[in-house]
Amino acid sequence: MDIKAFKGRSLLTWLDYTGEEIRSFLDLSKQVKEEKKRGETHQRFVGKTVALLFEKHSTRTRSSFETAVGEEGGYPVFLSPADIHLGEKESIEDTARVLGRMYSAIQFRGFKQSTVEALAKYSGVPVYNGLTDDFHPTQVLADILTIEENFGPAKGKKLCFVGDGRNNVARSLMVICAKLGVHFSIITPPSLNPDPVLTGTCESLAAVSGAKIRISADIAEVEGADAIYTDVWASMGEEAIKAERVRLLSPYQVNKSLMNKTGHSDTIFLHCLPAIRGEEVTAEVIDGPKSRVWDEAENRKHTIKAIMLATM
Ligand code: CP
Ligand code: NVA
Repeated sequence: MDIKAFKGRSLLTWLDYTGEEIRSFLDLSKQVKEEKKRGETHQRFVGKTVALLFEKHSTRTRSSFETAVGEEGGYPVFLSPADIHLGEKESIEDTARVLGRMYSAIQFRGFKQSTVEALAKYSGVPVYNGLTDDFHPTQVLADILTIEENFGPAKGKKLCFVGDGRNNVARSLMVICAKLGVHFSIITPPSLNPDPVLTGTCESLAAVSGAKIRISADIAEVEGADAIYTDVWASMGEEAIKAERVRLLSPYQVNKSLMNKTGHSDTIFLHCLPAIRGEEVTAEVIDGPKSRVWDEAENRKHTIKAIMLATM
């Protein structure tokens, strides 16, 4: 697929892309990573500017966008709610119209999916969802890349997400796996199941791609998993319900005993980070030989560079 076909498109959720299109982003990510490892430098963003809007904190996503834009000769501008009027003194629509006149693209990290949708609708430039309460699409492209670096093509492999099954990362993994034909299980207490509408949509996509999508409260579901994934039990903005989540999710901690239940000696461990050792994962697992979390974090940058290269 010619990457020129993506010019001008936003990435709000992978629901807007076909499996074949997502494959092109993975291939381009591998290419830019190899270029970097060979020590090549390119200047493909000369004259480009990217606005980076952050309502929530970030280490990896912000650093990925800033360094990827800068390395290619472009200019990233970080804008927090302390800096701009977004949604306070000025509507999202008006902010989008203005930013669209000045920047080549916009990244948004924050609370509402409707904000990133409005930015895309009114700015006229590509908009990237750097995490909302609903989705974290740039993260899961890096996750699939990491799986492929370990096992080859992800299609037909089994990924299990253990923990808060309704959060942005679990939901985004379900979408990308359903599109790509990756078998995907969410292992979570029933009260934290992903919403049934999205699950139904993903089951329909899976029927086409060949993926098996399963939601289960039973840890035994990890059997046969190639990769085990977890995320924090309380996401950004959910700090007030942390104690309740710890109570609900303690039986779902990823520890050595859970990793052994896959029955595969080469199962890898993934986590989007930041992680809380002793809660969703033990230090023994995240710092142990099966963990691929640092490759996964590095891959955020290569995949984000690829997304911008294709669309900007
Ligand atoms: N995984 C991730 O999005 O990390 P940051 O919150 O540090 O950006
Ligand atoms: N689910 C987490 C992901 C952080 C990258 C959160 O939203 O806080």
